[in-house]
Amino acid sequence: MRASIIITIFITLCLISGQVLCFKVIGCSGGSVMFKCMNSNQRKFYDQYKGRFFCRNGDCKTGISTEIQHRWVNNGRFNLYDDENSRFFTVFIRNLSREDDGEYTCGNKQKWSHDVTLVVNRDSSFCGMYVMQAAYIGQRITFQCKYEHGFEKHTKVFYRVNVDPVLVLNSSQSSQSSEEKFILSDSQKDHFNVTIRDISTADDGVYLCGVERDRSDKQPSETSITHITFIKEIHLNVHSQTASLQVEAYISKSVFIKCKFPQKFKGNKKFIQKDPSQKIPVDGQNQWVLHDKFHMFDDTSEGLLKVFISDLTAADEATYRCGVNIADDHLFTEIKLTLNQVDSFPASSTSSAVVGESVKLICNYPEKHNEAIKHICKENKKKICQIISSSEKRFEFSDSAAGVFTVIISNVRLTDAGVYWCGAETRHKHLTSVSLTNKHQLTLTMPPVIRREGDSAEIKCPYDTNHAKEIKQLCKGKCFTQDAQYIIRSDEDNGKKTKISVKNDTELNLFTVTITDLRAEDAGKYWCAVKDAFNLPIELMIIMKDGITHEASVGGSVSISCKYIRKQNQVFFCRGDQPNICVRDGVRVSSNNRINGRFSLTDQTSAGVFTVNISNLRAEDSGKYWCAEEHSGSFVFTEVHLHVN
Ligand SMILES: *[C@@H]1O[C@H](CO)[C@@H](O)[C@H](O)[C@H]1NC(C)=O
Ligand SMILES: *[C@@H]1O[C@H](CO)[C@@H](O)[C@H](O)[C@H]1NC(C)=O
Ligand SMILES: *[C@@H]1O[C@H](CO)[C@@H](O)[C@H](O)[C@H]1NC(C)=O
Ligand SMILES: *[C@@H]1O[C@H](CO)[C@@H](O)[C@H](O)[C@H]1NC(C)=O
Ligand SMILES: *[C@@H]1O[C@H](CO)[C@@H](O)[C@H](O)[C@H]1NC(C)=O
Repeated sequence: MRASIIITIFITLCLISGQVLCFKVIGCSGGSVMFKCMNSNQRKFYDQYKGRFFCRNGDCKTGISTEIQHRWVNNGRFNLYDDENSRFFTVFIRNLSREDDGEYTCGNKQKWSHDVTLVVNRDSSFCGMYVMQAAYIGQRITFQCKYEHGFEKHTKVFYRVNVDPVLVLNSSQSSQSSEEKFILSDSQKDHFNVTIRDISTADDGVYLCGVERDRSDKQPSETSITHITFIKEIHLNVHSQTASLQVEAYISKSVFIKCKFPQKFKGNKKFIQKDPSQKIPVDGQNQWVLHDKFHMFDDTSEGLLKVFISDLTAADEATYRCGVNIADDHLFTEIKLTLNQVDSFPASSTSSAVVGESVKLICNYPEKHNEAIKHICKENKKKICQIISSSEKRFEFSDSAAGVFTVIISNVRLTDAGVYWCGAETRHKHLTSVSLTNKHQLTLTMPPVIRREGDSAEIKCPYDTNHAKEIKQLCKGKCFTQDAQYIIRSDEDNGKKTKISVKNDTELNLFTVTITDLRAEDAGKYWCAVKDAFNLPIELMIIMKDGITHEASVGGSVSISCKYIRKQNQVFFCRGDQPNICVRDGVRVSSNNRINGRFSLTDQTSAGVFTVNISNLRAEDSGKYWCAEEHSGSFVFTEVHLHVN
């Protein structure tokens, strides 16, 4: 009863002889409203004055007043657009609050004005929603806007907030074909959806969805003065995933590419595309899969697609896409792979390292990538090179020269044997690539066991737990080959042999052979074998009991005679503290290189000796030397002390 009286009075007051004198705009707390302030007196007063306003009080602290035309002008949340249309101008108020509720006046400063009642509802569950939404270039995105009961048949609108007049899309427009950029579909029940197709960076911005209504809750009639109540504000952030990135790699080398996808698509199916025609789906997640020459790994926990391509040829130069499928769409990063022929990068190198020691690998990279992060990776059984984590402290990187870096692997372990690649990384937002330039084949040897004649030596053979019950054996030479000399088995009775004994420690998975009273002929390479599994050979080196000492004077010469212990051997004369390092790094003369500066080597086969002559002696020649002889990789040494006075 009371409500109907108010409405009646309102209508009576606002519509005198068909003219609009006042009207009501309904919004909700946190939402927005947009309406036209109409000049109903236009026939009487031609509206030539520019000043427009929408204000609560005379001072217009709450509201907006402007003389500017053809663009949106704002005062905080209050916006006004006057397009010089003498009949109306548009007012747009965002983020309404309860305090905004009340009476306003809108009009032209000189000639006309009327009252506006702004009603801000407080208790609407759908209204006043504010969401942030991320989208990616090329994507299709749908917003859902829920409305209250009663608005099923009303026109729904979707606005884009911009500096220019806003874009409107409304549900009473007939053409809503699926080819359009914006598609609005109304359930006519409780929600409508707006889909934006083929997102581009230009779509980044603020959008609003709402319903067109008049002051009643009923569907507006032809003659109603309507306004728009916005129920939801959407801030769309467009990110560019589609980027075209250049990756440089080298012919006959490899490349490791890592594509990063938005976290929310990390579980979606990934793909690789070579030229537009050839889309290769990555079948299987969190495992390496092979297609053609692409090794691919879809890492769903990180949202990464790793791609490894080896043995690159000129035919691999192409434009690739690495992408992720999303709904009926996809996102991708474009990769332009260029292949260079660089002859200065060595083909492949072989390095040998002693277990427990360190080894240095040398790597090349294009000088322009000086600042790049350097990498080393190791091929697994499938020949996929897996980047070695930087947390692996035993791998130390250093720049040695322009375009060259070195990797030192310290405390080399048995598991380090294998094929390594190294190269430099280039990094983009969605893509990391490592162009691999050098291949290193790393082989390992065990540190030698060096003992003196008459002493005893232990040869330790570790074995795999699942071989605990098997019989192990030790051979000099590789067991089961023709030249191998069988030494002992793990189950052999210890009492039988005096010189050789065996101990098997099943707890440590170790079987140890002890050889006592060592002789020159015990020197050699020993192999442990369990069934057909072999450990690395262990080299036993023997130092003869009797050493040689020589005294000589500066400027004079000295002749050192070393006994041939075994016949027909290769011999060396070297300087160094440790005999094994001496033969590696300190050789002065050998049977292959008999004259070397002040050093010379001659054979006196009949006397069973070889003689090393050092002439023009200097004080610094004093020190420890070794006469060494080698036979099929087994070494015997005689220690030499030279004192030059
Ligand atoms: C809307 O206004 C309220 C104060 O009334 C403020 O706390 C809130 O941050 C504003 N929201 C936006 C999206 O501007
Ligand atoms: C909706 O579209 C129709 C047809 O184009 C138009 O007459 C009407 O004014 C539009 N409504 C709004 C709120 O923009
Ligand atoms: C709006 O989108 C939701 C979720 O995508 C869907 O379930 C619903 O059917 C859509 N409604 C209309 C009217 O298309
Ligand atoms: C371990 O050594 C003992 C003798 O010490 C022998 O009886 C046994 O068979 C050996 N075990 C294996 C698996 O070789
Ligand atoms: C060692 O060399 C010196 C100088 O060349 C020479 O006089 C001497 O006879 C040589 N001795 C031997 C044993 O060859």
